[in-house]
Amino acid sequence: MAETRKAEEIFKEFKEHSIAEFFKKNRQMLGYSGKIRSLVTVVHELVTNSLDACEEAGMLPNIEVKIKQIGEEKYSIAVLDNGPGIPKNYVGKALAVILAGTKFHRYVQQRGQQGIGAAGCTLFSQITTGKQMFVKSSTGAGKAYSCNVSIDTVHNKPIVSNLQDISENFRGLDVEGEFADVKYENSDHGVYEYLRRTALSNPHAEIRFTDPEGKESTFVRAAQTMPERPKPTKPHPLGLAVNDILEYAHRTESRKLGAFLVENFSRVTPNKVAELKEFAKNVDFEKDPHTLTWSDAEELIKAFNSVKWISPDGTQIKPIGEEQIKVALKNILDPEFMSVVERKPAVFKGGIPFIVEAAVAFGGTAGKKTDEGYSGTILRFANRVPLLFDSGSCAITVGARDIQWKRYSMDLETQPISVLVNVSSVHIPYSGVGKESIAQEEEIVDEIKLAVMEAARGVQRYVSGKLRLHNEENRYKTIMRYTKQLAQDLSEITGKDRKVLEKEIEKLVAKHYPKVMEHENGPDEGKRGKEESDAEDPDE
Ligand SMILES: Nc1ncnc2c1ncn2[C@@H]1O[C@H](COP(=O)(O)OP(=O)(O)O)[C@@H](O)[C@H]1O
Ligand SMILES: [Mg+2]
Repeated sequence: MAETRKAEEIFKEFKEHSIAEFFKKNRQMLGYSGKIRSLVTVVHELVTNSLDACEEAGMLPNIEVKIKQIGEEKYSIAVLDNGPGIPKNYVGKALAVILAGTKFHRYVQQRGQQGIGAAGCTLFSQITTGKQMFVKSSTGAGKAYSCNVSIDTVHNKPIVSNLQDISENFRGLDVEGEFADVKYENSDHGVYEYLRRTALSNPHAEIRFTDPEGKESTFVRAAQTMPERPKPTKPHPLGLAVNDILEYAHRTESRKLGAFLVENFSRVTPNKVAELKEFAKNVDFEKDPHTLTWSDAEELIKAFNSVKWISPDGTQIKPIGEEQIKVALKNILDPEFMSVVERKPAVFKGGIPFIVEAAVAFGGTAGKKTDEGYSGTILRFANRVPLLFDSGSCAITVGARDIQWKRYSMDLETQPISVLVNVSSVHIPYSGVGKESIAQEEEIVDEIKLAVMEAARGVQRYVSGKLRLHNEENRYKTIMRYTKQLAQDLSEITGKDRKVLEKEIEKLVAKHYPKVMEHENGPDEGKRGKEESDAEDPDE
């Protein structure tokens, strides 16, 4: 018989783990899987933090990214910004504690949310190189300090060392680290492309980049105004899960459940509470919300689904905006033609508002140059953050590919087309832990399709006009090839001057191709970067 062990004995091995220990073993959950992707993740986390911080402080972001190769699959990465910096007493917590940050309990549209980005970088550096992160920060009033940070992973506590004041005139935050098991690549999945797309969705930012070869690139600021800041909102009852209600209930200052519901969730009025009581008969609406149980919350969710609600308020969702997208596309892609569409707020899962905007850009440096010519590209964004990986299952890819591009005189396989789609929401439903792909919620896919179709329609007239011109030009050239021979033959038959005859024939042919002549003679004025303004809205 096999040897048996007592519970006592087995449970000697029982241990608690900190969240840092957990992520140390599950780094792919933070986006650190694959060498190329891991490197982009570091840049992504630090750059999104810089953008969030600058915007929150009301400054137009100036961001600098520097990458150097320091060994085999080993790089140093530095990200600097001109934002508010981090107070000395918070630097450890902000950058070296997982699940800590200033954005956690806000119900507001923003890039960061969970407080795992920056500390995730620190952890990744630590486990691949054993090094601490270097931080330099201003603290206002011309003061600045520098230090090193790392995580005590056993306790998920920060370790701050070498803390010293510096006299250097510095404003903002500079975070630098060394990372191994990563690789720099100049591809569609690389840092350059990530930053280029960040510039596209954030024309108010100036981004400078030095790549490992020492090559410097600058994405200049194309828009001089700060985007409007989204304000915190309240979640709509239909967007809540049992756990959400409990979390809110345990944090609230309200004394009674009824008041708690009115105060914390959108569209809940005292009248609605009275209605809810009819459906949640076992719940005591006078009780202290701190004592709310799982089954209370479950019953509340059922009641939420039984009454009629006004849709959630989408006015606090801030998309990039039509004008800003145009400016950015012109700046980065300089297309021959573009059309931009911003849809009205819509709702998914009954309670979560979102806004889709889409642009189709044609010509210029839109699309992608290939050996055979061109191919179209789909540029995916969630709350202005570029999504570079896991494109196949993303709602944006699925929505944009599902369109019959031929109906719009376009071909995504062979033409210089860039399709940009940005989904904005307080709660983006990502389909994986890596936050690189948007789940295929039906309402979101539908909105994406409508937006892209509308934008495609805007470009269609231009593209089909161009196609017609191209065909006519070919015909014109074919005919012109025979004019010399024809004039020669006619001259022999009639005895008239060959040169005069040739001119006459050319004039005659030209008369039949006025568009081609116009195109050949006049410069193609005003076409570049022009956009269709009268694209009709299917909603109206
Ligand atoms: N560049 C920065 N400037 C100022 N504060 C920052 C910067 N980067 C990070 N922080 C602070 O550190 C916190 C933690 O960042 P992070 O771990 O990425 O979480 P999140 O971005 O989800 O809040 C942020 O909430 C913010 O308060
Ligand atoms: Mg972050």
